[in-house]
Amino acid sequence: METKLVKISAHDGAEKYNEAACLLRDGQVVAIPTETVYGLAGNAYSESAVRAIFEAKGRPQDNPLIVHISSFDEIYPLVREVPDNARKLADAFWPGPLTIILPKSDKVPLCVTGGLDTVAVRCPLHPVANRLIKETGLPLAAPSANLSGKPSPTTADHVYKDLNGRIPMIIDGGECEEGVESTVITLATETPKVLRPGNITIGQLRDVLGDVQVDNAVLNPLKDGEKVSSPGMKYKHYSPDTDVVVVRGSYNAFRAYVNANADCDTYAMVFSGEGSGIKAKVIEYGLSDKYRELSHSLFGTLRRLDELNATRCFVRCPDETNDDNLAVLNRLLRAAAFNTVDLRAKKLVGLTGKTGAGKSTVSKLLEEKGAYIIDGDVVARRVLCEDSSILVELEAAFGGVLCEDGTLDRKKLARKAFSTPENTERLNSIIHPAINEYIHSEVEKAFMEYDCVVVDAAAIIESGFADECDCLFVVHAPEDIRKQRIIQRDSLSESDALVRINGQKDDDFYISRATAVINNYPPFDLNDEIKKIFNLIY
Ligand code: TXA
Ligand code: MG
Repeated sequence: METKLVKISAHDGAEKYNEAACLLRDGQVVAIPTETVYGLAGNAYSESAVRAIFEAKGRPQDNPLIVHISSFDEIYPLVREVPDNARKLADAFWPGPLTIILPKSDKVPLCVTGGLDTVAVRCPLHPVANRLIKETGLPLAAPSANLSGKPSPTTADHVYKDLNGRIPMIIDGGECEEGVESTVITLATETPKVLRPGNITIGQLRDVLGDVQVDNAVLNPLKDGEKVSSPGMKYKHYSPDTDVVVVRGSYNAFRAYVNANADCDTYAMVFSGEGSGIKAKVIEYGLSDKYRELSHSLFGTLRRLDELNATRCFVRCPDETNDDNLAVLNRLLRAAAFNTVDLRAKKLVGLTGKTGAGKSTVSKLLEEKGAYIIDGDVVARRVLCEDSSILVELEAAFGGVLCEDGTLDRKKLARKAFSTPENTERLNSIIHPAINEYIHSEVEKAFMEYDCVVVDAAAIIESGFADECDCLFVVHAPEDIRKQRIIQRDSLSESDALVRINGQKDDDFYISRATAVINNYPPFDLNDEIKKIFNLIY
């Protein structure tokens, strides 16, 4: 069969729809754009048209189809009755990406509903879909226009790739706005229940209906023998050929995991702006806090992985505490066949504080509690010893800071670099990036064995590393106590101690950026303080 591609836009007149409308009235199938995903439409009253839909998609016969109408009144012939709640939902969300399930009328063939006595109805917002239904004068049964099991199509090109040669026509109406299929809610249960999340969110539905439940199968694999509310939930779904693995946890933990586990055909599917620092091929799918951006690009991105011949893809999991992300989460978990990695216990902790506050003491206590400690001073020393390109840069910047054997003369460097704030700034801009990179690789190694990695560094805020930590703790003690401690520890005179103390930023610089303060002076009990921060870490 030859598949014809026809472009139709919102502004086109009735004549543009003739050919498609004729095919549909004739019992044939046509792929159409909707605001969610492309659908494969056929006359809902024609058993042969419905059969053709199942055949073209290779869809299991017991998986029911959604019937599409162009305005609310067209619902009456399809259902036994129209409850108040259906009217309320339609007033709030139709035309739009919401499907309502109600007891079906006798007019709806059982092949449409997969043998169920309920029918799913939706009134699409997309001008081309809506107009085509009007022009055809029929309710149109339409599942997503993909081969069964594949990610749903959000462009005409996706449909063409799956169904070319299997259907007579594809209408190209551009890229779908929403990108995930409609929210499916049943009103055939005592309490309304969401069977499939979409971009009409649970919160929006509760605003209209009050109590709304979410079906267990939305986020969980079916148990053996468990009865499904929606047959679509029992099949493998939305899956590219690439093996998808959903990775739960922070960005740091994700990066460390991917860098340790990626090989050359592995991709990382991340939120916008997260690519740098990940040692795998990266594909972005939108800003982490914009669920409609994520949903818009989700299926296209999954399909793209196949085009790129990715064998495996680690995916950043959207925030599971935010119900608005349910649709994307639901599709990702199914695309992964529930293959997930949970790194939520992995925490990267920053630890800092002024001189004499007692960072090292706190580090030791954290180590005793099972954390892995990375000492910023040790890393800095190592970078300055081992990284010859840094020494070249320092010599170029300050001049005369190397010994005869080419090693760094630390005293000379300190004298020059701390002589003016500009010079200090210059020193930092040379060494901080190198130190941060070194710490990153140490963190990666440590995360293979430890859940909690602590980076103890005096300049962790100034170097920017604090921004990457899951939390930042500042060890604090009043100035006179800190002064006494460094006088004793480093055998300093009082005036030398004061020079050191005065060279640091004020308390507020640290405290305003901290997740919490660890008070290391009487009458505080340091062990209690440590317990407090472990509660904050987890
Ligand atoms: O956004 C959408 O809903 C798209 C566009 C084309 O409108 N359509 C779509 O259809 O996603 P489909 O067939 O791919 O998904 C329909 C889902 C399936 O999971 C199916 O099991 C469920 O809705 N469903 C349909 N009728 C049902 C019923 N009577 N009871 C329970 N679940 C039903
Ligand atoms: Mg589908």
